[in-house]
Amino acid sequence: MHIVFAASEGLPFVKTGGLADVVGALPQELAKLGHQVTVYVPRYRQVAKHVPEAPVLIASLTVPFDYYNRFARILDGGKRKGVRYLFVDCPELFDREEVYGPQGGEYADNGERFGLYCRAVLEASKQLGVPDVFHAHDWQAALIPVLLRSTYYFDPVLRRVPCVLTIHNMGYQGKFASGLMPRLLLPWNLFTMDKLEHYDQVNFLKGGIVYADAITTVSCKYAAEIATPEFGYELDTVLRRRNGELVGILNGVDYAEWDPATDRNIAAHYTERKLDGKAVCRRDLLHAFALENVAETTPVVGVVSRFVTQKGIDLIAQIADGLAKEEMVLVALGTGEPYYENLLREFAERYPQKVRVRIAYDNVLAHKIEAGADMFLMPSHYEPCGLNQIYSLKYGTVPVVRATGGLDDTVEEWNAELGTGTGFKFHGYNPEDLLAALQRAFALFQDKKSWQKLMRNGMAQEYSWKKPAQEYVGVYERVIRQRS
Ligand code: ADP
Ligand code: GLC
Repeated sequence: MHIVFAASEGLPFVKTGGLADVVGALPQELAKLGHQVTVYVPRYRQVAKHVPEAPVLIASLTVPFDYYNRFARILDGGKRKGVRYLFVDCPELFDREEVYGPQGGEYADNGERFGLYCRAVLEASKQLGVPDVFHAHDWQAALIPVLLRSTYYFDPVLRRVPCVLTIHNMGYQGKFASGLMPRLLLPWNLFTMDKLEHYDQVNFLKGGIVYADAITTVSCKYAAEIATPEFGYELDTVLRRRNGELVGILNGVDYAEWDPATDRNIAAHYTERKLDGKAVCRRDLLHAFALENVAETTPVVGVVSRFVTQKGIDLIAQIADGLAKEEMVLVALGTGEPYYENLLREFAERYPQKVRVRIAYDNVLAHKIEAGADMFLMPSHYEPCGLNQIYSLKYGTVPVVRATGGLDDTVEEWNAELGTGTGFKFHGYNPEDLLAALQRAFALFQDKKSWQKLMRNGMAQEYSWKKPAQEYVGVYERVIRQRS
């Protein structure tokens, strides 16, 4: 079958978070299964830098707006590992410094940017290849199912094409003032509370949930959580109405990129059977953060994260003094909202011998942390799937996580009696439980034999894309059947 992926980011062209990892790997796995896959990504400045010479496939698509038309070009990003990549080019909307907005924020015209993107994907598909199914990701692509079932209803080419929506994060919904409706030429009859309207705003994700043929999210636990008021971010009732169509499919990870046996970014390679290289990676990591004279018995805690509310950065700040009393060092890498960046900066300034923070986006350093740290900390408030803890398992870097969403589905608490488990979990979103989980990890770290058992339990876990890709094919086949 032919599947069109619509997503606002994807490796190797542009990445701000885990969505890019998924859009980089899942299409290639589907191609391996014999399917034809086309991925549409906006041509941000980052994408243009990555592929400066992309041939023009469509010189001008007209996308009507209320005040004047906008025009998008479709550029050929080439074929990689069996997947075709196409770029939606509209320089006045996408040729900017940031992908979504400055300093972890949003550009004011994001509704127009991704409204145009969704229309362009539909129009381009009509000319370059009508798929058997659209697979839209997150709010930025969520207008695709809305358009298909409303303004494109009578299109003889697209009317029978179903659309699957994957929610990677309920915390980002694409909410805009109602004035966006006429600007995108969306009919007002869509602006009701059972469709696109939510508390007097246009809500892209809500529209997607209402109109998609099937909805998936990125772990089973998160699928259950988002149908509750605590995690549903006000869309839980809308989701519950479509509960029969909501499934959780746990993300895989790309072991071609994230495997200590082959990783190009780390100082030495190692495997479950031969762990020696990990000590070299640890030294290299400490050197990269200019931490000197750290004893071998001192555990290194790593963090790689977007510094935003979701990720529990405030909890780390709350245990700062307690944590600093422990025998440990902490290295953190990330960017995000200035408030959280400053919390971590202050923590590092207060305890310069023990805590180092790098405010940056740095893929090589992210790999070095996965390989060189002894533990990986993810105290997320919520976490739809989370990829770093799965990478950590493979790198023998023991995850310490809050038991939420995909973190709960992928990490099993260490059981000393049975020698089972892969990490440490805490449940309540409070500093005491977080500190207690870290202290359990610090204590076990001193027992080298048990610690290695725990590391190896994690390294033996298998989270490739094979099984999830097959599950997605099952969903595609079901919606195609239903619409034919
Ligand atoms: P989310 O998508 O919510 O940010 P995930 O755990 O799914 O969380 O994925 C985050 C991805 O982004 C991982 O691949 C991680 O290594 C990467 N990442 C996050 N922040 C940085 C950073 N500052 N530098 C390099 N990579 C980062
Ligand atoms: C989102 C989520 C993260 C998930 C990623 C990929 O950004 O926050 O938990 O792993 O999408 O699905």
